[in-house]
Amino acid sequence: MQTHEIIKRFREHFERNGHTVVPSASLILDDPTLLFVNAGMVQFKPYFLGEAPAPYKRATSVQKCVRTGDIDEVGKTARHLTFFQMAGNFSFGDYFKADAIRFAWELVTKSQDEGGYGFDPNRIWVTVYQNDDEAIELWQKLAGLPPERIQRRDGLDNYWDMGVPGPGGPCSEIYYDRGPEFGKDGGPIADEDRYMEIWNLVFMQDLRGEQSPKYGHPPIGVLPAKNIDTGMGVERVAILLQGVDNIYETDLVRAVINKAEELSGKRYGDNEVDDVRFRVIADHARSGIMIVSDGVSPGNEGRGYVLRRLLRRIVRSSRLLGITEPVLGTFAQVVRDEMGPSYPDLVTGFERTLSVVQAEENAFLTTLTAGSRIFETAAGEVRSAGGTVLPGDKAFQLHDTYGFPIDLTLEMASEQGLKVDEDGFRKLMAEQRARAKADAAARKTGHGDKTVYRELLELGATEFTGYQELDTEATVRGLIREGQRVRSAGEGEIVEVVLDRTSLYAESGGQDSDAGLIVADGVELEVVDVQKVARKLWVHQVRVRHGEVVEGQHVLAKVDPEWRVGARQGHSGTHVVHAALRQVLGPKALQSGSYNKPGYLRLDFAWQGGLSPETRSEIEEVSNLAVRKDLPVKVMYGTIEDAQRLGAIALFGETYDETVRMVEIGGPWSLELCGGTHVEHSSQIGPITLIGESSVGSGVRRVEAYVGMEAFQYLAQERALVQNLAGMLKVPDAEVPARVEALVERLRVAEKELDKLRGAQLLSSAGTLADAAEDLGGTFLVAAAPAGVSGNDLRTLAVDVRGKLGDKPGVVALFSAADDKVSFVVATTAAGRDKGLAAGKLVPVFGPAIGGRGGGKPDLAQGGGTQPGGIPDAIAALRTEIQK
Ligand code: ALA
Repeated sequence: MQTHEIIKRFREHFERNGHTVVPSASLILDDPTLLFVNAGMVQFKPYFLGEAPAPYKRATSVQKCVRTGDIDEVGKTARHLTFFQMAGNFSFGDYFKADAIRFAWELVTKSQDEGGYGFDPNRIWVTVYQNDDEAIELWQKLAGLPPERIQRRDGLDNYWDMGVPGPGGPCSEIYYDRGPEFGKDGGPIADEDRYMEIWNLVFMQDLRGEQSPKYGHPPIGVLPAKNIDTGMGVERVAILLQGVDNIYETDLVRAVINKAEELSGKRYGDNEVDDVRFRVIADHARSGIMIVSDGVSPGNEGRGYVLRRLLRRIVRSSRLLGITEPVLGTFAQVVRDEMGPSYPDLVTGFERTLSVVQAEENAFLTTLTAGSRIFETAAGEVRSAGGTVLPGDKAFQLHDTYGFPIDLTLEMASEQGLKVDEDGFRKLMAEQRARAKADAAARKTGHGDKTVYRELLELGATEFTGYQELDTEATVRGLIREGQRVRSAGEGEIVEVVLDRTSLYAESGGQDSDAGLIVADGVELEVVDVQKVARKLWVHQVRVRHGEVVEGQHVLAKVDPEWRVGARQGHSGTHVVHAALRQVLGPKALQSGSYNKPGYLRLDFAWQGGLSPETRSEIEEVSNLAVRKDLPVKVMYGTIEDAQRLGAIALFGETYDETVRMVEIGGPWSLELCGGTHVEHSSQIGPITLIGESSVGSGVRRVEAYVGMEAFQYLAQERALVQNLAGMLKVPDAEVPARVEALVERLRVAEKELDKLRGAQLLSSAGTLADAAEDLGGTFLVAAAPAGVSGNDLRTLAVDVRGKLGDKPGVVALFSAADDKVSFVVATTAAGRDKGLAAGKLVPVFGPAIGGRGGGKPDLAQGGGTQPGGIPDAIAALRTEIQK
């Protein structure tokens, strides 16, 4: 039975039994305790805990799951994997043990003709939590299981929770006996390979605390209701129903291996070393592509880092299988084709997925080539010194400079029988992290200790009034100097001010913070920076210009109106350029970061390769047309679901509150979730002029632009520049390019002519010099400092002169002097060398006279000195040497 059919039957079975079919949640849920969703129940956690009312009493889902604890083991065995699908049924305070057992038993044992999985009931075993007599009775009564096929196990095996405080409960697991050829008799407690677990039924009733009941610690409470959470391993059922040995041979996974076989020309199953690679590719392609499809991009931290490891391991394993062409795009297509029917997002978002993985692969291949060389050298050094451990600083260098994840270094080292000094590596990493953190903290929020902010937060969040007004009356809630609360601050001091309300915009969503003042009678504070702490507390960094500010004082927060006009233009301009980019390049060009302040904006977006000048102009034109159309700018509030329904662009990695703010420019053309300050009509943005387009990392481009007055000033400057040039060239503006082109061409011709002349001159001086060779007892010496010859010409001339000496024994020594430097070239003829004259050996003879050094081969040597006045002495020394 194919995997899709297994899924379909599961869904239909529970739908028939009154369950609402809920789609798989994204792998990325906003749960700080989890890197990736790792069980079907995760999306229902609030219902179990009673934090939110369940919208249905019964639900069923097939959830994509990623567990990354065992990445290193994947491939080495056929058991470990990072991606799997969990089919589950859930009851929120509705049915409990009896129905959970009945539903599972029915589906597992009902014949395939009747829509079940058709497992032989006589080969089914179950386990229950140690003292759960109720479950034992139910299995006997409802499934007719004989007592000898029901085994008790302790918490370690039969208590389930999320591994963190939260819901949990005893569980009962269903196993299938694969037969004696897979292991020994005795049920699941004796052999879990032969008795394969297919389904876990959790009787979710407890609230687990810091310690898990798995290890005997009592739960800290009971849940508001008794619930059911089950998880059936879809791939495991596929193994059994497809009669294959392990997951890698099941239909959906095997498809990836087939592709890898096709690309490499090797066969899975031929040898264990290659098999490990095939399995890594098959598993990681599934997890990696699904993670990308859920919006994650490779990075150096958290999820991005795990993803990067997965993708890079695929690329490396492919290389080791002998595949030289890029692979990630190809494997992504296989995964899409296999998994798309169950996960439609995979298909709709495929273009982005493709560009993300291709960019990562390109980046990695460059890194791999450079880093591998460094690694090989380092590994060679370790081995030749008789060592077995690669030093931590090498691993750090590979990580820091070549982007090698430590795991890659570990893997490559272990392939060569080497270890890595991981402690040393981690120490260097920790140092670097501490440096970066201290840096960022010092930059952003002074030296504020977080507890101070927490204290102030308890007095309430800051109310932001800056959408409605520029001046706001407020009270000083607190003052912070160097991380400490202070009662007051005087002239010249730099402190942080927290107000109960403020009109000053805090840096967020790419928009720089407002400039402005906080004033009171005789007091003036200049606002240098505004940051939000915990998204609720506005912290103004100020310099006290006059007077003294004290806690509790009534003040007026004033936004600099000029600044705000510019800030609104900058932010609306960013939305317009973003929309223009997407109009011109397509929806794939999604913003990944931005920054704007009065007059200036920049926007980073996902894109491969540079933009042609035509494309840039087009983007600029579309942006300015949108300005000219005077599109209305509308601000709307709604739920995140409203926003999704309207197709608003939410930026990945941003967190949004329950109520979100949307900014629309010209209808759906530009609709983004945004908390920034905007103009009311697009014409208020003023001109937009792109000033640059560049790369800021693999697959990410950056456009920069000026807006409003700054755009005008920039253009005016360019115009002045052109007029200036036109004046100098004495042509009308429009003819400047043609005139410059003509000038450049003339210059080129003139330079060529000059080269020719110089060559001819050298040639003739070569003849003159050779003719004047001194005959020193049968050896000819040409030693001179020809005027106006230097650098390469000196060498060319020396070689020419030597040529002119023909088969005579001879030495040519030419010098050139400039200021307090001398350079020289010495050349010998073949006949001269036969007489024992070597150019390199002659240098020490005359070198000291000019304060010089140098060396070279017997036929040609060159060098330099510092005493031009010594040239005649040098020549005399040469003469004496040759005469010897
Ligand atoms: N939540 C249970 C599990 O993951 C079903 O095994």
